[in-house]
Amino acid sequence: MPKADSLKGIILCGGLGKRLEPLTRITNKHLLPVYDKPMVYYTIQTLVEAGIQDIMIVTGGNNAGDFLRLIGNGQEFGLRHINYTYQRGEGGIAEALGLTEHFADGSKIVVVLGDNLIGGSIKKYVDKFRRQEKGARVLVKKVQDPERFGVAEIKNGKIVSIEEKPKKPKSCYVITGIYMYDEKVFDIIKTLKPSGRGEFEITDVNNAYLKKNELSYDILNCWWTDCGLPETLYRAATLVRKKCKE
Ligand code: DAU
Repeated sequence: MPKADSLKGIILCGGLGKRLEPLTRITNKHLLPVYDKPMVYYTIQTLVEAGIQDIMIVTGGNNAGDFLRLIGNGQEFGLRHINYTYQRGEGGIAEALGLTEHFADGSKIVVVLGDNLIGGSIKKYVDKFRRQEKGARVLVKKVQDPERFGVAEIKNGKIVSIEEKPKKPKSCYVITGIYMYDEKVFDIIKTLKPSGRGEFEITDVNNAYLKKNELSYDILNCWWTDCGLPETLYRAATLVRKKCKE
């Protein structure tokens, strides 16, 4: 039974973070420090600041139990409770999201990749999604290195295609790791097949919504970075530090 008026938050902290070896050999990527806090703190804050109180963290890989020791029930963020689940291995972002179906329980969801940090608020986009009758909403950002991401081709103000890590990107606009979905997302995930890199891809989920003409987007108006490479982890710390000093 869809509960379209309620909105739940999901933070994906699964995967093995291999691109950050050896930093991730004995801990989970999302527990690494970004300036003065563990990475996962920033994504919890992103959701709480947008007015979302009902949150599930998908952990995985090494030392997943440390999330509980670190965050507990989320009192530091003004929460009374946080939900956790565990992803075995590294089956992809869509696989990790699929594990949260029982938690979402028919509600609309806002999904944040655990290594995606931003310099502002997503509240206005989330509020638009609250009013959106159905479908999905993604946040898009112009970057210098689109080939590392899901790339959106935009024509006449509409996304017309999304390609995951294309060798020849059709634009400089990429889909950031902040996704908003209606309750149909879990049915879509069940239809997916693994990609060439053996993962269930979130880009395939977004393309499924695109095919149904149910994919909206906004252009994110603050800085955004992932923390998946030594270089971008360093960049994130620099941007966060600058924001703290402002
Ligand atoms: O950062 C935005 C990009 O994130 C998007 O533009 C791409 O379309 C999307 O595929 C993704 O690209 P990456 O290949 O960089 O994602 P990565 O494998 O680094 O995973 C990002 C986060 O997703 C990671 O910090 C935790 C979560 N994740 C990832 C995998 C592979 C999971 O929870 N489980 C997983 O199995």
